[in-house]
Amino acid sequence: MKLFALLPALILPASGLDDIDYGAFTQTATYSVASQLGFFAANGLNVTYLQVPNSTYGYSQLLSGGYDILTGTIDNAVNLRFNANKTLTVLGQLDGGPDLVIASVPNITSVQQLRGKALMVDNAASGYAYVLRKVLSLYGLRLENGDYSFQVVGSTNIRYQYLANGSLPDGTAVYATILTYPFTAEGHALNPPLTVLARISDFINPFASSAFTISEPTLSDNNSRVLYTRFVASFMQASRFLAEPSNANCSIQAIARQLNITTAVAQAEYAAATDSSTGETISNSTFAVNRQGLLNVIDVRDQFSGFASVSQGFSFADAIVVGYGKLIDDSVRLAAMNITPRATANTC
Ligand SMILES: *[C@@H]1O[C@H](CO)[C@@H](O)[C@H](O)[C@H]1NC(C)=O
Ligand SMILES: *[C@@H]1O[C@H](CO)[C@@H](O)[C@H](O)[C@H]1NC(C)=O
Ligand SMILES: *[C@@H]1O[C@H](CO)[C@@H](O)[C@H](O)[C@H]1NC(C)=O
Ligand SMILES: *[C@@H]1O[C@H](CO)[C@@H](O)[C@H](O)[C@H]1NC(C)=O
Ligand SMILES: *[C@@H]1O[C@H](CO)[C@@H](O)[C@H](O)[C@H]1NC(C)=O
Ligand SMILES: *[C@@H]1O[C@H](CO)[C@@H](O)[C@H](O)[C@H]1NC(C)=O
Ligand SMILES: *[C@@H]1O[C@H](CO)[C@@H](O)[C@H](O)[C@H]1NC(C)=O
Ligand SMILES: *[C@@H]1O[C@H](CO)[C@@H](O)[C@H](O)[C@H]1NC(C)=O
Ligand SMILES: *[C@@H]1O[C@H](CO)[C@@H](O)[C@H](O)[C@H]1NC(C)=O
Repeated sequence: MKLFALLPALILPASGLDDIDYGAFTQTATYSVASQLGFFAANGLNVTYLQVPNSTYGYSQLLSGGYDILTGTIDNAVNLRFNANKTLTVLGQLDGGPDLVIASVPNITSVQQLRGKALMVDNAASGYAYVLRKVLSLYGLRLENGDYSFQVVGSTNIRYQYLANGSLPDGTAVYATILTYPFTAEGHALNPPLTVLARISDFINPFASSAFTISEPTLSDNNSRVLYTRFVASFMQASRFLAEPSNANCSIQAIARQLNITTAVAQAEYAAATDSSTGETISNSTFAVNRQGLLNVIDVRDQFSGFASVSQGFSFADAIVVGYGKLIDDSVRLAAMNITPRATANTC
């Protein structure tokens, strides 16, 4: 029995930590807490954060092994799996789209002023582009009628930089885009602040957004499965910490340090991350996919013919049933719920 205890030390690298290449669009509050307070290390992981520049690149990296795991809005997995038969699997849902808004440059103050403008998106067929179309259509503005157009520029961090600057690097003016945590609160802190024209949760709610996504074939590899379980467990432990009100100041400090922002902005980020309908704590740290939120994602995409390559008679209801070899596999998150960290994470 003693030998068993020695084995991990022989297999693990010198630092005793296993490497995870983690692709992500944003540094969520849960990630900030996990990273700053040592939850990854406590689960034996050395996590390298790799910024996803755009969704096309991000998901192709995931499928080719460039990232071990990725968090991105669940629509990407839905699209690639149902339209293109890509073997992507969602292990759980992190959030409901915290601070997901249509934001604009300061001198635009109403949705109607977007008429005739070019709006920045990651990809014209991405989930957030469809969300933008949905909300604008409720204001009477339609892409298909030429009421506005798209500028394809990349993921949220890039769009935020351009929006804050008021133009693309080549000087082309920009007007509005979809922003999400943490950029919405950062944009509010600018002088003058960016305008929030609409909150998506006022129109689509619940909404399933950031999801832990992997390449399905890797799930049958036990080593990968063990690493995914420890990774998701680290997020769960960080999520429980984030959700606990008595940890608020400590969580705010972790967010401020991770994002290099002031305490005042970090307080706004914390409020978004713990929002009871869209935040990162809505699943009570179980990371269960919100079925109605996922159905809303499918509905919005379908409204704009976003399932053009899905065969006739395709059953979305069957395709979203949880199980092995399906879009959603919850075996990893269920195993992760029972893991206790090897060491205690730091407190503030
Ligand atoms: C973590 O991984 C990075 C490279 O991804 C490496 O530079 C660093 O030394 C590793 N840290 C530990 C503690 O293993
Ligand atoms: C996506 O990112 C990759 C890698 O940085 C880049 O080569 C590609 O041009 C980007 N695509 C778009 C549409 O921005
Ligand atoms: C989808 O891929 C699977 C293998 O991953 C294959 O068995 C199936 O035939 C493919 N379906 C379509 C419609 O291409
Ligand atoms: C806002 O400013 C930009 C750039 O200065 C200008 O092109 C645009 O017309 C202005 N929009 C409004 C609504 O004033
Ligand atoms: C910011 O905008 C100016 C023009 O207004 C442009 O020349 C510059 O390249 C932009 N910078 C970035 C980082 O986009
Ligand atoms: C992987 O794990 C499963 C379940 O624990 C086990 O049945 C199987 O033998 C393992 N496979 C390998 C190659 O270790
Ligand atoms: C949190 O910080 C605020 C001000 O920074 C302080 O007033 C409050 O007492 C702190 N709360 C806890 C539980 O430490
Ligand atoms: C953090 O932000 C401050 C103020 O905006 C800036 O001066 C500093 O260079 C930033 N530090 C890092 C490591 O990005
Ligand atoms: C989370 O816990 C609260 C309080 O116990 C409960 O009302 C809510 O339904 C739970 N939500 C989920 C998604 O489990």
